[in-house]
Amino acid sequence: MTASTIVIVGAGQAGAVAAAELRQQGFAGRVVLIGEEPHVPYERPPLSKDVLLQPDTARCAIHPDGFYAQHDIELRLGMAVASIDKDVRTVTLGNGETIAFDSLLLATGARVRRLPMLDALGDGVHTLRTLDDARRLLPVLRPGQRVLLVGAGVIGLELASSATDLGAQVTVIEQAPLAMMRCSPPVLNSNLCDVHRARGVVLHLGVPIAQAAREDGGIVLTLQDGTRIAGDAVVYGIGVEPETTLARAAGLAVDNGIVVDAQCRTSHPHIYAAGDVACQWHADSGRYVRRETWENANQQAVTAARAMLGVAPAESAAPWFWTDQCGLNIQFAGDPTAAEWIVRGALDQPPCMLFGLDAEGTLTAAIAVNQGREIRNAKTLIGKRARIARDVLGDPAQNLRMLARDV
Ligand code: APR
Repeated sequence: MTASTIVIVGAGQAGAVAAAELRQQGFAGRVVLIGEEPHVPYERPPLSKDVLLQPDTARCAIHPDGFYAQHDIELRLGMAVASIDKDVRTVTLGNGETIAFDSLLLATGARVRRLPMLDALGDGVHTLRTLDDARRLLPVLRPGQRVLLVGAGVIGLELASSATDLGAQVTVIEQAPLAMMRCSPPVLNSNLCDVHRARGVVLHLGVPIAQAAREDGGIVLTLQDGTRIAGDAVVYGIGVEPETTLARAAGLAVDNGIVVDAQCRTSHPHIYAAGDVACQWHADSGRYVRRETWENANQQAVTAARAMLGVAPAESAAPWFWTDQCGLNIQFAGDPTAAEWIVRGALDQPPCMLFGLDAEGTLTAAIAVNQGREIRNAKTLIGKRARIARDVLGDPAQNLRMLARDV
């Protein structure tokens, strides 16, 4: 009998973790990890922070040096997959080579949403998704440079923090009325905007860009209310889109990402998807959810790898992600669209926490600002669907670990 082959397309967080999990679970067949970028798989969270702030010492490799060779994982870098034939179970690479697979994992991630109006300006306009993108930003984020950041999401605000640390003059332009609206509640976002303002960042909120032009060697963005903002460079982060091109062409079910079941299996029984690209069925909420987080990439990678080998999935917990900006470490657990938020402590005097309740008063979310050690207890409480009196939740003297134990 020939050993079986598992091919992983996409050598980002999900791809690299899935490859490791296959070996961890004892899979002895061939593992081929194919990545379009030339770099050994790396973590993306440091790109907007350490990679910019400490470019000489920042480390972002997912696995240690030598890991892939030691675990007999065939790493094919700088290599795009051109197509998938799901019926005969092969992938064809950009160089024409064909690899047959028994199981396939699509971990193709997401690509930045483009803003053609800005792209048309050419030089001096940047986005941040890859290590190469981050390295291109190094000479841009310099003392005195006027940097215009379009989009005040996770990337925009983390960049605002790093660029300010590096001495750049930062202006943020966001079309929504507040920053971070996709993933964080207004009460926190408005405080975050104040924190950035106090560090010298100018924020233009709630007004879309009408026009972008080159003038006098710089770039001028004109907002719909007529405000003109001049800068030396623009970096925009207006969200990402799942990279579904291959999956779509292969005839897999795609709807806001590659549609997968709870085990990360796509509409084809031998093809799986994990990470930013996967839109997964969640039985507890009765809907498909696509998450763009580091933790989700790790979890789905493990789930998919185990499902390929017939191993039971790990237990799932409330979703979690974090952002670091302006000296604040902010960790989010649960559903950010809670109906009501209770603040424990003072937002302008961290450490503090926020607890999110649904319409019935059940705890569905928590946010820890410079208090990350509490997030595990908060996750336990969310997992238990705790109903705790508002004054207890809002009381910094209450011990969350005890509450989590006793609920
Ligand atoms: N002009 C200005 N702002 C815009 C525009 C526009 N034309 N279009 C969208 N925006 C704003 C949105 O309102 C939102 O606040 O851009 C922001 C995008 O924020 P995110 O959705 O958080 O996306 P981004 O910051 O690009 O991060 C991309 O990287 O770190 C990860 O988890 C993060 O998955 C996310 C990804």
